[in-house]
Amino acid sequence: MLLPYANRRQRVMDLIGSGTAIFASAPTAVMHNDVEHLFRQDSNFYYLTGFNEPQAVAVLAPHHEEHQFVLFVRPKDQEKETWSGYRVGVEQAKEQYGADEVYPIAELDEHLPKYLEKADRLYYHFGHDQALNNRVLRHWQTLLATYHKRGTGPVAIEDAGLLMQTLRRVKSPEELELLRRAIAIAAKAHNQARAIAAPGRYEYEIQAEMEHIFRKEGALGPAYPSIVASGENACILHYVENNRQMQAGDLLLIDAGCAYDYYNADITRTFPVGGKFTAEQRILYELVLEAQLKAIEAVQPGAPFNQFHDAATRTLTEGMVDLGLLQGDVDTLIEEKKHKAFFMHGTGHFLGLDVHDAGVLRNPDKTWQPFALGNVVTVEPGIYISPSYEPEEGQPQIEDRWRGLGIRIEDDVLVTETGPEVLTAAVPKTVAAMEA
Ligand code: GLY
Ligand code: MN
Ligand code: MN
Repeated sequence: MLLPYANRRQRVMDLIGSGTAIFASAPTAVMHNDVEHLFRQDSNFYYLTGFNEPQAVAVLAPHHEEHQFVLFVRPKDQEKETWSGYRVGVEQAKEQYGADEVYPIAELDEHLPKYLEKADRLYYHFGHDQALNNRVLRHWQTLLATYHKRGTGPVAIEDAGLLMQTLRRVKSPEELELLRRAIAIAAKAHNQARAIAAPGRYEYEIQAEMEHIFRKEGALGPAYPSIVASGENACILHYVENNRQMQAGDLLLIDAGCAYDYYNADITRTFPVGGKFTAEQRILYELVLEAQLKAIEAVQPGAPFNQFHDAATRTLTEGMVDLGLLQGDVDTLIEEKKHKAFFMHGTGHFLGLDVHDAGVLRNPDKTWQPFALGNVVTVEPGIYISPSYEPEEGQPQIEDRWRGLGIRIEDDVLVTETGPEVLTAAVPKTVAAMEA
């Protein structure tokens, strides 16, 4: 259990050499009028420690003689624990989390300098916790002011977040296991949603059924606000009201996934509520599916990150021209971003501890980073034709039969030696399966 965290910390220490890195937990759960909301740990902090409490700081100091991994945590406190839950405490944290030394968080200012004064660089991510940002800066300035007497100390601060982007982009076997678990639960929920969706039911009933399965199966809950969008609502990308009664003839777009041990599934399916696509729905569905399959094929080890989006965009744009939704030369339409009238988002993002997960996509020269083994990426093209669509100048007016249709298909895909592995394959997506 401790091994993956120790290995990850070692990789950070290898990268920072003689530097010291400071990672902060997420702050205490937000209080809303005296009611505490759910705590969600900072992903980088969790990735390196597995420690799931607020008000904690981890220090990695590979050059320190005795303590390479130091934790600052909340001390045990009977009264506070009665109100806000168990704390691991200083003594237990050392044993349970493999730290070389653990201090109460209140002693941060006292102990931090000794882990910084021999470092040549300080690695820290300036996050939302302004108070901690200021404290770290103050320590750095103090050490700089006395550098001339010591001849050591961090001469620069580098972003610790960037280090983590590189590490977290490639998923380890342990992480893939958790992702597969999250995806299995989300898949079950999607399959159940399709089984129970019917004209007359409300979108929130489907949402409730899915989220019931998430929790019942041991997930923490939804990875993001579930989108259950019937009819025209599917044209709103972040529709979350989920309060409409579904009608015969509607499509239902469901973008929902769960978090399991903070690892996220992110799945979208679109299907006819009444069991059969209309002619227009079917034509558009087949086009989105074709674009999605082509995009998945482009998720190959070594392929630049933009290629799967380009593949989806080209297929969709060609289809839109064939259907009379756009007019003009396909290359020119893409270059001028005319496809964004109906396909206005990217084709996917890395997936992991965050739904939109860590990973730098471009190089300084603007070229795209290639996919690497162990990357997990969503592939989620779509077409959305607003009921009130007005063509830009030079583009055709469209027939009413296309209006109000929104379709997205989203899978989670692992980059393997033999090509893309669709982790979400347990949720069918063929036309026949969507009509079953
Ligand atoms: N559900 C969030 C996304 O697809 O990016
Ligand atoms: Mn999604
Ligand atoms: Mn997504």
